[in-house]
Amino acid sequence: MKTVANHTLSVAPMMDWTDRHCRFFHRLISKHAQLYTEMVTAKALIHGDAMRLLRFDAAEHPVVLQLGGAEPSELAHAAKLAEEAGYGEINLNVGCPSDRVQSGAFGAALMAEPDRVATCIAAMKAAVSVPVTVKCRLGIDDQNPEETLPAFIETVKAAPCQTFIIHARKAWLKGLSPKDNRTIPPLDYGLVRTIKETWPDLTIILNGGLRDVPHALEETKMLDGAMLGRAAYQTPWVLAKVDAMVFGDAKAKPNKAEVVQALMEYAAEEIAQGTPLHAITRHVFGLFAGEAGARLWRRTLSEKAPKPGAGPEVIVEAAEAVLGEKWAA
Ligand SMILES: Cc1cc2nc3c(=O)[nH]c(=O)nc-3n(C[C@H](O)[C@H](O)[C@H](O)COP(=O)(O)O)c2cc1C
Repeated sequence: MKTVANHTLSVAPMMDWTDRHCRFFHRLISKHAQLYTEMVTAKALIHGDAMRLLRFDAAEHPVVLQLGGAEPSELAHAAKLAEEAGYGEINLNVGCPSDRVQSGAFGAALMAEPDRVATCIAAMKAAVSVPVTVKCRLGIDDQNPEETLPAFIETVKAAPCQTFIIHARKAWLKGLSPKDNRTIPPLDYGLVRTIKETWPDLTIILNGGLRDVPHALEETKMLDGAMLGRAAYQTPWVLAKVDAMVFGDAKAKPNKAEVVQALMEYAAEEIAQGTPLHAITRHVFGLFAGEAGARLWRRTLSEKAPKPGAGPEVIVEAAEAVLGEKWAA
């Protein structure tokens, strides 16, 4: 079996979570992790406020825009807008099971329509020169993933599509909420490994249930990379190991006091442009998870940041509570 050549680690696309403020914060902890946007629908980009939806800070690179949709011409148009905005990669969502997404017949519902996915990818690729990738599930509903997943990959890879990020569980479109669909269907990493064995030249990234970087590396020895979702959001300091352990950047030694300092500077700039402090601080509650003072950090931010006129001094106060002298130094 092939050993890994191009190992990568990314933070998953998460609606309402991985907005530009969250991504900026994650980038303070890891210089190299690939960051994904929340899913943006192709329709919203074409008919809505594309400037606002596509906005990101140059510091976020490498950053991937995830698109939702099922109409090849719309996806091609949206991909073009994303490329022009500077995104380094466009990813198609073939995994989201929410009702809103199903009513648009995209997301995980597309697991049953590999030909359509291939047509969408081909149209997107024809429109842009950056990589176009797919994030999918093992299968949906009563599909037998051992048969349908290889058939899906076989069809979509012919688009051509080189990279598949596979959330290693099925999605149930009827009867389970999106949240339940991230916990109840069992994980099957073995099937993802089988896909890699079948097509060693494809880039196969594992997602789902990975707790931290050592766990991700352990489970992806035969694969090309790992994507962390909830662990990266809820316990963001897991990303502190990424640069050294995954990307071999021995100089990378992230430090919480420096992260907090940079966050304050970012908050001051954003507040001056009209961003409420809470829009930023709501993503950083988990920074000190598991440490003494974590609760006070969280409480100070959650109580004081939403108040009208709240500024970076709230971050200073929260940091003093948890970092004490380390912060003062
Ligand atoms: C709050 C939340 C929002 C999500 N939104 C998206 C999304 O927009 N697009 C997508 O492909 N997956 C979405 N997901 C799924 C994640 O990308 C990921 O596949 C899933 O959480 C499993 O990975 P994990 O176990 O590491 O969290 C979302 C997950 C969460 C928790």
